[in-house]
Amino acid sequence: MLVFAKIKSVQQKLSSFKKGTTIGFVPTMGALHKGHLSLIEQARKENDIVVVSIFVNPTQFDKQEDLINYPKTIDQDLLLLKSVFCDIVFAPSSQEIYADNVKSQSFNFDGLEHQMEGKFRTGHFDGVGTIVKRLFEIVRPNKAYFGEKDFQQLQIIKKMVEKHHIPVKIIACDIYREDDGLAMSSRNARLTLEHRKAAPFIYKTLKKAKIKFGTENALNIVKWVENEFKNQPLLELEYFEIANEETLKTIETKSLNQKYRAFIAVFAGKIRLIDNISL
Ligand code: PAJ
Repeated sequence: MLVFAKIKSVQQKLSSFKKGTTIGFVPTMGALHKGHLSLIEQARKENDIVVVSIFVNPTQFDKQEDLINYPKTIDQDLLLLKSVFCDIVFAPSSQEIYADNVKSQSFNFDGLEHQMEGKFRTGHFDGVGTIVKRLFEIVRPNKAYFGEKDFQQLQIIKKMVEKHHIPVKIIACDIYREDDGLAMSSRNARLTLEHRKAAPFIYKTLKKAKIKFGTENALNIVKWVENEFKNQPLLELEYFEIANEETLKTIETKSLNQKYRAFIAVFAGKIRLIDNISL
C-alpha cells in the first residue's frame, strides 16, 4: 500500500497504470470504522486499483468546534486500510488542497441542499461538493463509493456528477450497523456510556416507523415518532422526516412508483447522530 500526501505524486502514480486499469475510489475523513471498510471491500471487488482518501475537510464543518474535535487516528487508519487490501492512500494537508484559500465553491443541487441536513448545517453541502469535486479531479476514478448512512450527501454527489458531467459512476453502499442496530459512525466513540446505551432506540424507532408506513399516513408517523422521543430523556430529536428519495422533499401522502425514506437526526448529549431507513 502506498501513501501519498502530494497531489502531484499521487497523480504520477495513477497515470503510471496501463490503459484500462479501473480505479475505485472511497473518500473519507479518516477515523475509520467497519462502515468505511465495507465501502472499501466493495470497491476492492469491483476495481483493479482501490484508492482511499483521508482528509478532514475544513469547509464542510459549520461549527469550528466539530472540526477541532474530529478524531484523528491516522496510524490505526493505515493499518485498517492495509487489512482490506487498499492500494493507494491519499492523505493531503489542508494547504495542499486549498492553498491559502480555504473556501467552498457555491453549488446548485436543485434544492436537495435545502432539505434536512441543509437546514441545520449551513454551507455543509457546498463544502462537501467542493472537496469531492476536487478529489474526483485528482484521482479520476471510474467508480466512487458512498454510504447510504449519509443519504442526502449521496444524492447530492450524484446530482453534482450529473450536472458537471464528471465521468464517474457513483455506487451507493448499505448502512453498516453495530449488533444493536446503531449505525456505525466516528461520532459513536464520543458518546458517554449512558448515551451509547440509549442510542439504539434511534434505529428501533425507524424500524417501527417502516412498519407503520404500510398502513398509516406520513403525518401521523411523524407525530408518533416525536412523541416516542419525548419519553427518552437522553435523546433529543432534531428532526424526523419522511421524504421522497429523489427530491428529498417531505411527503404527506404516498403515490405509486415513488421511493420513500425516513430520515432522522438526534442529539445524544452533545453528539449529533443521523440515520435513515428505506420505506
Ligand atoms: P466520512 O464521514 O468519513 O464518511 C466516508 C464515507 O463512509 C461516506 O460515504 C459515508 O456515508 C460512509 N459511511 C460512514 N459510516 C457508514 C456506515 N455506518 N455505513 C456505511 N457507510 C458509512 O462522508 C464523509 O466522510 C465526507 O463528507 C466526505 C465524503 C469524505 C467528504 O469530505
